Amino acid sequence: MFRLIKEDINCVFDRDPAAQSVFEVITTYPGFHALIIHRVAHYCWGRGFRWLGRFISHVGRWLTGIEIHPGAQIGQRFFIDHGMGVVIGETAVIGDDCTLYHGVTLGGTSWNKGKRHPTLLNGVVVGAGAKVLGPIEIGEGARIGSNSVVVKDVHADATVVGIPGRIIDREKKKTSKEREEIASKMGFNAYGATSDMPDPVAHAINHMLDHIHAMDKQLGDMKKVLNDSGLEYNEPDMPSLDDCEIKE
Ligand SMILES: CC(C)(COP(=O)(O)OP(=O)(O)OC[C@H]1O[C@@H](n2cnc3c(N)ncnc32)[C@H](O)[C@@H]1OP(=O)(O)O)[C@@H](O)C(=O)NCCC(=O)NCCS
Repeated sequence: MFRLIKEDINCVFDRDPAAQSVFEVITTYPGFHALIIHRVAHYCWGRGFRWLGRFISHVGRWLTGIEIHPGAQIGQRFFIDHGMGVVIGETAVIGDDCTLYHGVTLGGTSWNKGKRHPTLLNGVVVGAGAKVLGPIEIGEGARIGSNSVVVKDVHADATVVGIPGRIIDREKKKTSKEREEIASKMGFNAYGATSDMPDPVAHAINHMLDHIHAMDKQLGDMKKVLNDSGLEYNEPDMPSLDDCEIKE
């Protein structure tokens, strides 16, 4: 038990640069107080002292502004920063090394008994004000943006933002980087258009750029295959796009 509490204190230093000393954490961190109170309430709940568990949890809420149902299962090194307004439901399960900020709800979407709250696997971070709702699973190391509302499973290491929560598409970012590169090679700027600006001309040009990019790559690959199979391809290399001059 003391080892667990020691780890709960130490993890604060890893995740809050403002933390100064162990004494400060023990005396002034509501997230830490709520966690210790929850560990006691959960112990009572698990041993059948349901009312006592609820009452201890209620006192914790009164003292810290953080409401954790005594039935919730919480792993090691859990940290709630600031804390006010956090609500964690009865059937929520939280893995090790998770972090929640103030205003987070791990809530249910139905009034049926049984599993109705989320499961957070290890290392999940939930930003301030985010709501994670229903018996969904948030994968290891996933990050939920502040004020998001997440109602579907999230895969490991994903970042989710918005309402409803959408996974940030890193591949999409990569594609637009490729487009920008080829567009600037061809001598024009990517017309300041992004996927957020549904300009049909920009859309068409983006697809042409993708096509040119794919053709470029295929030509290079075909030339390599020809040369590797002994067929000499003697045409000089295509001039680099950087070297092209636009003739007026
Ligand atoms: C979600 C979060 C983890 C994203 O971090 P990241 O992976 O570094 O992502 P980025 O900052 O590169 O942002 C990626 C995109 O998501 C957008 N975004 C980031 N956070 C967002 C949020 N909470 N809501 C909506 N969009 C968000 C960014 O604008 C960016 O959009 P773009 O690609 O169109 O430019 C972070 O923004 C966040 O919300 N952390 C919670 C922090 C918190 O609650 N702190 C409280 C301290 S008291």
